[in-house]
Amino acid sequence: MRIDIITLFPELLKSPFEVSILKRALASGRAEVHFHDLRTYSTHKQKQVDDYPFGGGAGMVMMIEPIDRCISALKKEREYDAIIYLTPDGETLNQKAANHYSTLDNIILLCGHYKGVDQRVRDHLITHEISIGDFVLSGGELAAALFCDSVIRLIPGVLGDESSALTDSFQDNLLAPPIYTRPAKYKDWEVPEILTSGNTPKVEQWREDKALERTQKLRPDLLK
Ligand code: ADE
Repeated sequence: MRIDIITLFPELLKSPFEVSILKRALASGRAEVHFHDLRTYSTHKQKQVDDYPFGGGAGMVMMIEPIDRCISALKKEREYDAIIYLTPDGETLNQKAANHYSTLDNIILLCGHYKGVDQRVRDHLITHEISIGDFVLSGGELAAALFCDSVIRLIPGVLGDESSALTDSFQDNLLAPPIYTRPAKYKDWEVPEILTSGNTPKVEQWREDKALERTQKLRPDLLK
């Protein structure tokens, strides 16, 4: 999978890809992430990328021209399965969507800033709009990083233990069961006995029961 990220602040985005699972995914070639500094696509002398909104009002609007130039340059090189604008009024990202995006080959992510982008970008250049939740960030970069993390870890072979993505919370509409590690007793707090019994079928049953119990208690909406 290849992800091209269009941003005004590439430096804000780099570190998540320099550690742990994302770093390994890039090193193994299973995922490629490329950053494109939108300012370099501006034709203005001062590398301007935003302007005042028509009709007045507070805040600046990201102009269509540099965005169009950047997306067009990328589209000349390859076909894209999704051109995504990160925005709080997009469709909320969830595990089902992450699974879907993890099967695609080429994705563009466009990070907004200021008041957002000229509506014509959304009407004519973008294929999907994604939000990471009902709150407003200063820009789309952190949302893009979060999108990449949730999607790249699902690419086959990226996680060391192939089964571990399957037991994640939400993967089957259930929250994950509680997990424990050594020591079996810390202060007065003991690990459930079943987990140290060595009885794998019983452990599996216990995990299923706990996942259901936790989901019923914390996120009953997932069970509907
Ligand atoms: N940009 C600003 N806020 C955002 C959010 N909640 N989701 C995605 N992109 C955003």
